[in-house]
Formats: sequence, structure tokens, C-alpha cells
Amino acid sequence: MSEIKTLLSSAQIAERVRELGAAITRDYEGRSLVMVCVLKGSFVFAADLARAIDLPLRIEFLGVRSYGHGTSSSGVVQITYDLGYPIEGEDVLLVEDIVDTGLTIAHLLDLLHTRLPRSIKVCSLLHKPARSVTPVPIDYLGFTIEDRFVVGYGLDRAEIYRNLPFIGTLAPHVYGGEHIPR
Ligand code: IMP
Ligand code: MG
Repeated sequence: MSEIKTLLSSAQIAERVRELGAAITRDYEGRSLVMVCVLKGSFVFAADLARAIDLPLRIEFLGVRSYGHGTSSSGVVQITYDLGYPIEGEDVLLVEDIVDTGLTIAHLLDLLHTRLPRSIKVCSLLHKPARSVTPVPIDYLGFTIEDRFVVGYGLDRAEIYRNLPFIGTLAPHVYGGEHIPR
């Protein structure tokens, strides 16, 4: 796929995921954890991260659709698939593919807090600080990246490219320059 330029290779990602898994395992030693994975983007990352964590681990999914206007997400998210079990009293790790404006994570943290977990931390593979609109705590972060539209390893452009084993940037002629619908 010549329209894609590699930004993070599968080997780089795998090494970082191992480090994140080891840090999470250390921090929650002696406890159990519920991973809440935000669909669809985090499904590849979550699958690898789960196998890098050595704890009694429950895995839940949260399907969200965000109502963005043109280039930015509004932060108003509709839940398209809810958790299968309550998280009351549980230690929760919210797993995202990328924190861009931060609006989606901020909204999901508000929502999950109403379910009375014992704690919530955020783990995101990527962060684009240049586009931050609302500050969000990212307790475990894979990589900080520049303000480029990236695809692969779960991330899509119009639902395509999620299956790429690496993370790459799209040539502007493919995504249409500055105006990126999300
Ligand atoms: P936020 O609310 O702006 O932080 O939006 C985060 C969501 O926007 C992510 O979960 C992704 O689905 C999507 N997104 C943001 N930047 C990118 C990108 O560069 N590539 C693919 N999806 C992205
Ligand atoms: Mg997306």
C-alpha cells in the first residue's frame, strides 16, 4: 500500500505494548483488573495488551459512535454497545487507540464514574497533544505523535486499514488534505 508511510513498525509497537503490560502488572499487583476497550479502534491494541498483562483480568467492550463535525469530534458520544457486566467496586482500565481532542475520553470517564468503579485509569496507545481541547489524564501511554492522520493497528480511515500490522500515515491525496471526517 504505497499511500501509507510507516510511522511505527510492528516491532516498535510490540516492544512498547510489552512495557505497558509490565507496568500495569506491577501497579496492580495482588489485584484484579477490568479492561474496558473502546470499540472499534482499540481492538487490536487491546488484544495484544491483554496478553502482556499478568493479572486476573476481565475484558469488556464499549462501543461508541462520536458525532463529529468535519475535522473534530464533538465529544458527544453515543453508546452503541454497552458493558456486559457491572464495574461497581472494580479497578477499571479504559483502553483507547488514540487520544486526539480528548473529548471522547473525557465523556467516557464521566460516564464510567457514574457506575461507581473503585478506580479508573486510562491507557492509550497514541496521543496527539497538538489537538488537545480538554486535558485528560493518560496513565499509560504508548507513543506521543505529531498532528498527522494515522491508520493501522486498529485505526481506520473510513473503516479501512484497521488490519495493517503497523501504524502509518496516509498521504494527503488519500485522506483529502486538511478536512478529515472522523
Ligand atoms: P477525540 O475525542 O478527538 O480524542 O477522538 C478520538 C477518536 O477519534 C479516536 O478514538 C479515533 O477513533 C479517532 N481518531 C482521532 N485521530 C485519529 C487518527 O489519526 N486516525 C484514526 N482515527 C483517529
Ligand atoms: Mg475511529
